[in-house]
Amino acid sequence: MKMWAGRFAKEADSRVNDFNSSIRFDSRMYEQDLMGSMAHARMLAANGIIPEGDAEAICDGLEGIHADLKSGKLLFDPDAEDIHMFIEQELTARIGDAGKRLHTARSRNDQVALDLRMYLREETKSVSGLLLDLIRELAGKADEHLETVMPGYTHLQRAQPITLAHHLMAYANMFCRDVKRLSDAAARMNFCPLGSGALAGTTYPIDRQMTAKALGFTAPAANSLDGVSDRDFCIELCSAFSTIMMHLSRFSEEIIAWCSWEFKFIELDDAFATGSSIMPQKKNPDVTELIRGKTGRVYGDLMTLLTMMKGLPLAYNKDMQEDKEAIFDAVDTVKLSLSTFTPMLRTMTVLKENMRAAAAKGFINATDCADYLTKKGVPFRDAYKTTGTLVALCIEKGLTLETLPLADYQAANGLFSEDIYEAIDLMACVNGRTSEGGPAPRAVRKQIALVREFLAAAAK
Ligand code: ARG
Repeated sequence: MKMWAGRFAKEADSRVNDFNSSIRFDSRMYEQDLMGSMAHARMLAANGIIPEGDAEAICDGLEGIHADLKSGKLLFDPDAEDIHMFIEQELTARIGDAGKRLHTARSRNDQVALDLRMYLREETKSVSGLLLDLIRELAGKADEHLETVMPGYTHLQRAQPITLAHHLMAYANMFCRDVKRLSDAAARMNFCPLGSGALAGTTYPIDRQMTAKALGFTAPAANSLDGVSDRDFCIELCSAFSTIMMHLSRFSEEIIAWCSWEFKFIELDDAFATGSSIMPQKKNPDVTELIRGKTGRVYGDLMTLLTMMKGLPLAYNKDMQEDKEAIFDAVDTVKLSLSTFTPMLRTMTVLKENMRAAAAKGFINATDCADYLTKKGVPFRDAYKTTGTLVALCIEKGLTLETLPLADYQAANGLFSEDIYEAIDLMACVNGRTSEGGPAPRAVRKQIALVREFLAAAAK
């Protein structure tokens, strides 16, 4: 029998029942629903809206439901419309009339808006924790690879020499911003919709400050219509999750390339790679490919939320029940991706020699050769041109800038002398790039220190 049976002459068609029901996905918010109901009941009693004894019975009953759900003694009823109805029905079955008083001065509209905010508040914390683990791992690996020279690329063409530490710290900085994006969104989300009622508040003398405080919110939502109507917090979080996935996906794309025989910069641990069912030689980077693939799925969740909301008049519309599957899928996917990516990174082997060999090819030190002349007074554009002709000469002769005889240098410009070879030495090229944020070990050490400060502050 439905709660609204009084108004209806017929039972709902079973197809409508199933179509309407959200318990199969909103049951995961049961703890938030219980906490919200307890705070609401206490507030009702404190303001003389229900008897003190009823509030006690309600809280005891809800505690009992909590314990039984946790232990598995009580199972979610798949026929219930949603988690809110299920808990209220179960409570009333257990404690009778007092249970029927719980929903005074409340609607499922403010209830669901509350539960979802509280649920996402917790999930956001765990995503941030996983991001911090990854950042810690990146800083640790960077420490080990301050002198591991590798090519830096633009257009996937070897461009200038950097180190693996420098490359890893680029990602560490991106993930630090992701953590901040999450905490900014969480702070905006942290306003309590409870007490908004269905949309227009209530005539009961409720105390919204009391429930907001008890449930850990900054303050009550300032407008009851807004409190039940918007899902911008889901959209903002999903956008932050999409950005995390985008960062992970770029990194994954590089790892996939680095594992290939063409690069061979790294080797994944056997425990984090997979084989082929037919080709015995294969060791595939499936984890990173899945992360790249799942990124599209999280973007899809964001599109679902944006599109679902764009045509809805205020206040609640049932369309909004669709918010949960999208945002839950996004949360689950980000958590799964991060918790697999970090140990994969931790256990991979870096093939330093191959990185260095790749950096030694491809005239990656040509800018440094031009800078050599510039530092001797040649205008940069002229130095650039001279170096271009030297590169062409090397290609013609099958040489590199390191192996090109001094006579050839001097024929191009009399300012070249023996010290050109030191100037274009790979490690010297990296060591010289001491500008703030650059790849010189000294500069990267500072970057690591800054990120560690961020980690220490986040741990507080
Ligand atoms: N299960 C519903 C949801 O997730 C709860 C709110 C129902 N409110 C309503 N007016 N039908 O959106």
